[in-house]
Amino acid sequence: MPQATQYELRLAVRMSRLGTETAFEVLNKARALERQGKNIIHLEIGEPDFDTPKNVVDAGVDALRKGWTHYGPSAGLPELRQAIAKEVSASRGVEVSADEVVVVPGGKPIIFFSILALADAADEVIYPNPGFPIYESMIHYVGAKAVPIRLREDKDFSFDVDELASLINDRTRLIILNSPHNPTGGVLSKQDIRDIAEVIGDRNVMVLSDEIYSRLIFEGEHYSILSVPGFQERTILLDGFSKTYAMTGWRLGYGVMRSDLATHITRLMTNSNSCTASFTQIAGIEALHGDQSSVENMKHEFQRRREAFVAGLNKIKGFSCRMPKGAFYAFPNITKTGLSSKKLADTLLEDAGVACLSGTSFGDFGEGYLRFSVANSLENLSTALDRLDQWTKRAR
Ligand SMILES: Cc1ncc(COP(=O)(O)O)c(C=O)c1O
Repeated sequence: MPQATQYELRLAVRMSRLGTETAFEVLNKARALERQGKNIIHLEIGEPDFDTPKNVVDAGVDALRKGWTHYGPSAGLPELRQAIAKEVSASRGVEVSADEVVVVPGGKPIIFFSILALADAADEVIYPNPGFPIYESMIHYVGAKAVPIRLREDKDFSFDVDELASLINDRTRLIILNSPHNPTGGVLSKQDIRDIAEVIGDRNVMVLSDEIYSRLIFEGEHYSILSVPGFQERTILLDGFSKTYAMTGWRLGYGVMRSDLATHITRLMTNSNSCTASFTQIAGIEALHGDQSSVENMKHEFQRRREAFVAGLNKIKGFSCRMPKGAFYAFPNITKTGLSSKKLADTLLEDAGVACLSGTSFGDFGEGYLRFSVANSLENLSTALDRLDQWTKRAR
């Protein structure tokens, strides 16, 4: 029984501006249905269904036994910052030093800290819509103006650079890019990135480049705005271990940015978390230095699944889906079903036993779409397709 409260809860006004990630709410709803005896296929949560590679788990356990159980430096252990600097220098083709790296618990804090550190109340932040919901939530939370840039299906879920040009003004402080992209699986090509860089020109605007899925690319190569000459000083690169090494629960990510900004982001770490867990960071060093075959295996498995799942979706009446080029999501257009995204997602959960997310969980421009995660077995994905097919036939 909830305890009766004597005092009214008086929240700070800013709490009314804080959004959330619907995936966790849908998961809770699905679990409640399971407790009632329903069978649900979970395609709502965005995390690899693989175990963390054994060498990484062993390194973490070993670190615990060796006493890596204390506070560490707020910006991260020097050895890990060095390893990240080396990895980013090699993969993005720029010279990055350890003092430009801040290690944080997961990729998310870099979103929070960057917006907190750079955007004042009257400032504008441009972000992809549909997009990872935390961008919009955090922009609103700090009281800045959230300026969505629409991702367009007919441009393979890229955006129109002329539209970006029209949105940039003197109040623009930050532009958020995300490639490979959640929820659409779209990937910005080298040409896209160059066009974006050209539109930004020499303006003093920072770019938060969320590259958390950088190693999960099926077509083409990952290209970062960090690699564009003149952009290193104006880019905050967000990457991490959650998706690449199936380490979502370890909470380990990082930002790469000019060292003066790194000092301020580190102060935010000192104020909020003190530091990222030390043994987790030791495991992160092993992840970067050790055998990378698990990353490749996971990628190939996601590729097989995306192909099977997207082909199956395209056979279902009312669904049409582009082949995602990266990450592990399918984002079908469902306008021809005649239902709104939210209504369809709710109905599929309750009547078909398939948990997915409404496109509107990722912003207003997600209307007309659903997001399915293919981080589930081929067998379950095939059962989900059968259920969707049967449901659409029943619903006719
Ligand atoms: C685009 C994007 N950025 C950042 C994150 C956050 O990752 P982490 O779990 O490492 O905080 C996610 C997680 O789903 C994501 O999809």
